[in-house]
Amino acid sequence: MIGHNDKIYVAGHRGLVGSAIVRNLESKGYTNIIGRTHKELDLTDQAAVRAFFDEEKPDVVVLAAAKVGGINANNTQPAMFAYENMQIQCNIINESHKHNVKKLLFLGSTCIYPRMAPQPIPEDALLTGPLETTNEAYAIAKISGLEMCKFYKRQYGDDYISCMPTNLYGPHDNYDLSGSHVMPAMIRKFHEAKVNGNPTVELWGTGTPLREFLYVDDMADACVFLLENYDGEQHVNIGTGKEVSIKELAETVKKTVGYEGEIVWNKDMPDGTPRKLTDVTKLHSLGWKHKVDLEEGVKLAYEWFKENVDQARM
Ligand SMILES: NC(=O)c1ccc[n+]([C@@H]2O[C@H](COP(=O)([O-])OP(=O)(O)OC[C@H]3O[C@@H](n4cnc5c(N)ncnc54)[C@H](OP(=O)(O)O)[C@@H]3O)[C@@H](O)[C@H]2O)c1
Repeated sequence: MIGHNDKIYVAGHRGLVGSAIVRNLESKGYTNIIGRTHKELDLTDQAAVRAFFDEEKPDVVVLAAAKVGGINANNTQPAMFAYENMQIQCNIINESHKHNVKKLLFLGSTCIYPRMAPQPIPEDALLTGPLETTNEAYAIAKISGLEMCKFYKRQYGDDYISCMPTNLYGPHDNYDLSGSHVMPAMIRKFHEAKVNGNPTVELWGTGTPLREFLYVDDMADACVFLLENYDGEQHVNIGTGKEVSIKELAETVKKTVGYEGEIVWNKDMPDGTPRKLTDVTKLHSLGWKHKVDLEEGVKLAYEWFKENVDQARM
């Protein structure tokens, strides 16, 4: 059980996921939340992480810090995606154990599943086939993180759990087009085209792939729900269980931004896997369901982007 006065360390508290988890914890009356920026604490540095745990002695840890990137960054820097993520996880999970952290939540992503996993993807599809090669290093690191949580539970009885959210979007997203995911990239492109009066916006691929999107505050709500209610060994998918085509997504973002030009699909760019949808049966049976639908979520994300365009990660 976690308590409202427990000291909760959110690693990556200024990122998309970590900042949403902090907002959700605060809204539910958790009063003792701590964080460190990357500048203040490099989580790949084992000695520094140990010193931080010695000093702060958190009761609960949320591991939302990671080296994250789009397809290009993942594809061109596999060594660093594997090294940094494994290092961050090893340091935090082992120091949590040594400092008697009573609950830890590890954040992974659905790229842990095999490229040809059944759709929708159930939790037990893990390690049943080859991974997508473009983000293999990141996926291997994330798989090792969730397996480590399992092993610490098995060997020591530590209450360390893992969740695998689907594609997320919302406040504090990364809008830098060299590393951003599809939703923030579309928001930025349509916004800039509208402001500059450009007649067309180029988007990558054919628009036919099907994807699932979850508003990040919903994801945070699910994470806190799991912290409060789940202690199982198996990881839990977090998603909506609903999918849209990239074309439909583009139309929704275009309408929300109020852009009136045309979309040009650059079919020379890759589409990625044709379909990726999580099976959320387990999460639903635990008693949690998403609240924000895609249209509302895109509106909220765009409002944040407009208000924070000067500080957003561009
Ligand atoms: N975004 C998604 O759609 C999505 C979907 C499913 C799962 N997830 C998972 O959620 C987690 C967080 O992702 P995110 O989207 O929130 O990424 P993000 O916005 O880039 O946030 C990651 C945070 O980790 C920090 N960080 C990275 N390396 C660090 C280091 N060596 N030392 C200290 N801090 C470090 C970053 O700080 P700096 O920026 O200063 O380096 C940043 O604040 C990841 O595990 C990811 O797999 C994300």
